[in-house]
Amino acid sequence: MTDAEKISEIRRLAKERGAVILAHNYQRAEVQDAADCTGDSLELARKATEIEADVIVFCGVYFMAETAAILNPAKTVLIPDPTAGCPMADMITGAQLRELKARHPGAKAVCYVNSTAEVKAECDLCVTSGNAERVMQTFAPDEEIIFVPDQHLGSHIAGLLGRRYILWPGYCPTHAALTVKAIQDARAAHPGAPVLVHPECAKDIRDAADARLSTGGMCRFARESAAPEIIVGTEVGILHRLQQESPGKKFYPVSDRLVCPNMKKTTLENLLESLREMKTRVTVDADIARRAKRAIDAMLALG
Ligand code: 13P
Ligand code: SF4
Repeated sequence: MTDAEKISEIRRLAKERGAVILAHNYQRAEVQDAADCTGDSLELARKATEIEADVIVFCGVYFMAETAAILNPAKTVLIPDPTAGCPMADMITGAQLRELKARHPGAKAVCYVNSTAEVKAECDLCVTSGNAERVMQTFAPDEEIIFVPDQHLGSHIAGLLGRRYILWPGYCPTHAALTVKAIQDARAAHPGAPVLVHPECAKDIRDAADARLSTGGMCRFARESAAPEIIVGTEVGILHRLQQESPGKKFYPVSDRLVCPNMKKTTLENLLESLREMKTRVTVDADIARRAKRAIDAMLALG
């Protein structure tokens, strides 16, 4: 079967199963092409609340599918490869967060959406890179805040809002591979092109860029900017969507080594199998799901 034949079979089966396929911006190009909707974590979480179909097939990493399942307890949420995890999400456990909270009684706990359901269940609020600045502004200036697990997104938002947060030392191993030298080299190769990076990057990288944006923010920037060339400092899967939405512009990755191996675990083959066999269903313990949903709902209500 060619990729085009696999995509047409995926579309046929999705219709037959009453399924909607959601794909993150870092997915393989052909998986994005097979999906009903492509987006960043916030856009996909929102989309998951609007879907009428009974089945959601989530092409992304596990915490994303888990978030969709928490928001839709009555729906069937499938993930084509359940081993597609996010190493950053696994850098803190619920027990570790409980211990941290016990050391800071009275502090509000905020989790990046890249976290497990168990961690979300311990938090007052969840944020994504697309809404963190907006949502974190709602805390009173004197409130003590714990931010987990991404130290870089946490310090980025704290810097923007002039705050100090209690940070957990988690990080994204994919974005950790970016260097300032690679940004300088990309600027030298493409003079005048703005550099966009993800806020999961460390401070020296964020400071070396022109804008720090979620993947959805990067797509918006590309559509609205007059710049004919843009340098992109995030996972290379996003280049497909950028190029499709802005075909007249040129996009250059800061490094083509910026690949998230877990995002690449979803393929046309396992997506097809997922729909054929209705697997693998993502389930969350009911009590954890109920508590995690409070933090996600609080986020969606704020922006
Ligand atoms: P976005 O919400 O910006 O798409 O980020 C998700 C992610 O995992 C980035 O590494
Ligand atoms: Fe997790 Fe980083 Fe992959 Fe995003 S790019 S899913 S943060 S490992």
